[in-house]
Amino acid sequence: MEKTFAIIKPDAVEAKNAGKILARIEAEGFRVVALKKHSISKAEAEGFYAEHKERGFFGSLVSYMTSGPVYVMVLERENAVAHWRAVMGATNPANAEPGTIRKEFGESIARNAAHGSAVDADAAREVTFFFSAA
Ligand code: RTP
Ligand code: MG
Repeated sequence: MEKTFAIIKPDAVEAKNAGKILARIEAEGFRVVALKKHSISKAEAEGFYAEHKERGFFGSLVSYMTSGPVYVMVLERENAVAHWRAVMGATNPANAEPGTIRKEFGESIARNAAHGSAVDADAAREVTFFFSAA
């Protein structure tokens, strides 16, 4: 069994899509190991997305991620990291496959409903970023 880290982002919480996304997570066979509603601070958003700090969209990404509450989660399943990325779909909802979370619930490349760790090492780091133990 493998763990990944996921966020239901502010746009999806605001649009009341969090329940539908959680239902999809369960239908995909994930076990929800940990879950909390959380308002991300500016410092947390800057640290969490530090890999993007030189990118032109960094300021708007931080504003977006702090614009309202999110749900942060630890999810467990076989092949959890890759499977959650596949279920989310491409970063830009316009390019996401039909049936993916971002196709169904994402508004734009910037406001795209969900986050998922890209690789195993990121998952381990991101879990400890938001949870003291999981
Ligand atoms: P995430 O980290 O949130 O799971 O998304 P990702 O791996 O699919 O995409 P990444 O390149 O890591 O980008 C992180 C988040 O930044 C926002 N973004 N905005 N305006 C833009 O061109 C742009 N590009 C990326 C998105 O919220 C993206 O998920
Ligand atoms: Mg990413």
